[in-house]
Amino acid sequence: MIGSTVARLAVNAGYDVVLSNSRSPDTLQELVAQLGPQARAATADEAAEAGEIVLVSVPLKAYPALSNTPVTGKVVMDTGNYYPERDGVISELDTKTLTDSEYLERYLPGARVVKVFNNIFFKHLLHLARPVGAADRSFLPIAGDDDSAKREVVEFLDSIGYGAVDAGPLAEGWRQQPGTPVYGPPYGTFANEQGTPAGADVIRSALEAATR
Ligand SMILES: NC(=O)c1ccc[n+]([C@@H]2O[C@H](COP(=O)([O-])OP(=O)(O)OC[C@H]3O[C@@H](n4cnc5c(N)ncnc54)[C@H](OP(=O)(O)O)[C@@H]3O)[C@@H](O)[C@H]2O)c1
Repeated sequence: MIGSTVARLAVNAGYDVVLSNSRSPDTLQELVAQLGPQARAATADEAAEAGEIVLVSVPLKAYPALSNTPVTGKVVMDTGNYYPERDGVISELDTKTLTDSEYLERYLPGARVVKVFNNIFFKHLLHLARPVGAADRSFLPIAGDDDSAKREVVEFLDSIGYGAVDAGPLAEGWRQQPGTPVYGPPYGTFANEQGTPAGADVIRSALEAATR
């Protein structure tokens, strides 16, 4: 859902995209055909190797099975959310010792992880993209420890149709995790797939209103 939506927005913005899943590239052929010649399917190892910016968009329970191909030094965008009923109990997330993205970081040594896209329904993400300068542009919170990685993500978001609000380091990523004010509501209800635009001030206020 989220991975293919980001792929679609990226292709629309002129990027070349390499998609992978847990099965095989063959199972992604229909999606690749829809996305057109800028997209191709590969194994997770090949995708990790090929990506200048890597998107990890899998359930947290799949982290131990992620590709072992090193992504050291690469920008990794993390869409993940911890849902114990889906992912199983992860004690450090239950006790809030780690944020969801700090947990991913453990599986990707040396990656420059940026938390992004985790707080928006994939259909809203598709429909709310707007060009630079549009009055109804929506903004997404981002969290990360590496300022240059965040700048690359801001540039990427800008090109695919979104502004960004800096939510701080990965340790502050809890402000955009499930159950917080910025997680879902600013972009409207599930019933309206077109979504409701959410500007920078709305996102900033929602981040500030989060309590742990
Ligand atoms: N859905 C949303 O609107 C939304 C919005 C924001 C954030 N999120 C979060 O983003 C994450 C992904 O959610 P989703 O809804 O996009 O899930 P999804 O549609 O179920 O997609 C998950 C993808 O991960 C792949 N995958 C699983 N294990 C893998 C592995 N070891 N290596 C490579 N690929 C693997 C799956 O491939 P196979 O099908 O081959 O197993 C599948 O393509 C979750 O943490 C979710 O909470 C979701």
